[in-house]
Amino acid sequence: MAAMLENKRILLVIGGGIAAYKALDLIRRLKERGATVRCILTKAAQEFITPLATGALTGERAFTDLFDAQGEFDVGHIRLARETDLIVVAPATADLMAKMAGGHADDLASTVLLASDKQILIAPAMNPRMWEHPATRRNLAQLTADGVAVIGPNEGDMAERGERGIGRMAEPLEITAAVEELLPSAGAKPLAGRRVVVTAGPTHEPIDPVRYLANHSSGKQGHAIARAAAAAGAEVILVSGPVNLPDPAGVKTMKVTTAREMLAAVEKALPADVAIFAAAVADWRTEETKQKIKKGNGSPKLSLVENPDILATVAARKSKRPKLVVGFAAETDNVVGYAKDKRVRKNSDWILANDVSTQTGIMGGDHNKVHLITANDVESWPDQSKDEVARALVARIAAALAKA
Ligand code: C5P
Repeated sequence: MAAMLENKRILLVIGGGIAAYKALDLIRRLKERGATVRCILTKAAQEFITPLATGALTGERAFTDLFDAQGEFDVGHIRLARETDLIVVAPATADLMAKMAGGHADDLASTVLLASDKQILIAPAMNPRMWEHPATRRNLAQLTADGVAVIGPNEGDMAERGERGIGRMAEPLEITAAVEELLPSAGAKPLAGRRVVVTAGPTHEPIDPVRYLANHSSGKQGHAIARAAAAAGAEVILVSGPVNLPDPAGVKTMKVTTAREMLAAVEKALPADVAIFAAAVADWRTEETKQKIKKGNGSPKLSLVENPDILATVAARKSKRPKLVVGFAAETDNVVGYAKDKRVRKNSDWILANDVSTQTGIMGGDHNKVHLITANDVESWPDQSKDEVARALVARIAAALAKA
């Protein structure tokens, strides 16, 4: 495990929600990366997890009370607020967000948050209706305007039976990745001065004004690569198809819909030192009709036209070809064999090949198992989170550029 957070101090404020149990895993993940973690539990958080559990994981007692004689004696709320590199609020409940947005200070958590001048990252978690409520929207807008960083929430099933929607807390590994981006290790900027273009997500190809052709790409791997490259100091242009992900901080995001728009945006983003093509571009588009196709006239025939291959087009350029072109190959069988062919056929320098058979859960999931195919070598990487794959790729790119 790379100690990306060595010597970093993180104050974790745990709010009272069912997602509080994930805060325990978050502590482990942060510590694995070398961080020191201190915890504040709100009164409501203690209904879900205990100070004893967080104390055992952090190796330090948990802080719970504003008026705690011992706490004031040994640390005190002002020192709690100051002696940290980053404050993470996870789960950030609707109530905690409201208190932060309003500047309340009626318990230890809210007082420390108000007393601190450090960067704050919140991982909201709540029922989807609470998340969508105009009050929460207002509070979120205020917090963002105040410079608070936000990770999640994600879409999915809620603890309440049968409820689904946006409101699940981001997973501990996603929060850890956001922490690493906010706290890059000093001096670790191996891509400083480099320009990197990344494509991500699916493309949508209109059939008529209301329908389109698409695929299951979530854009997670491409967005993770853009974030990792930015964290490594690169100037990053992310050309993203339609995805359900926030624009990464510190990255120029160009939003596109179709393959042709994606190609135009990539061409506009050149020149670049590196281009990474992680998008699942639709291979075909239809000859679009201006009017909505009506039922009742038999089965309409879709006539498909091949889309431009963005990777192959950029890799074949005589001028402004990036020094390093990296493609992906999503295959369901003979993964390495097909990917090797693809590397040569598309004139790509490297290919990251992955198995996207449905049982792997890679498409849309949070983990990825890839093979890095270069001119002379095939490296098989272990199953890792998409953030870890992104960081490993960025490290390899930095090493290759340093050698070139
Ligand atoms: O041929 P295939 O779609 O498997 O190739 C995958 C690689 O090519 C990916 O890197 C993908 O982003 C890129 N690609 C592209 N434009 C297309 C099709 C694929 O850039 N039209």
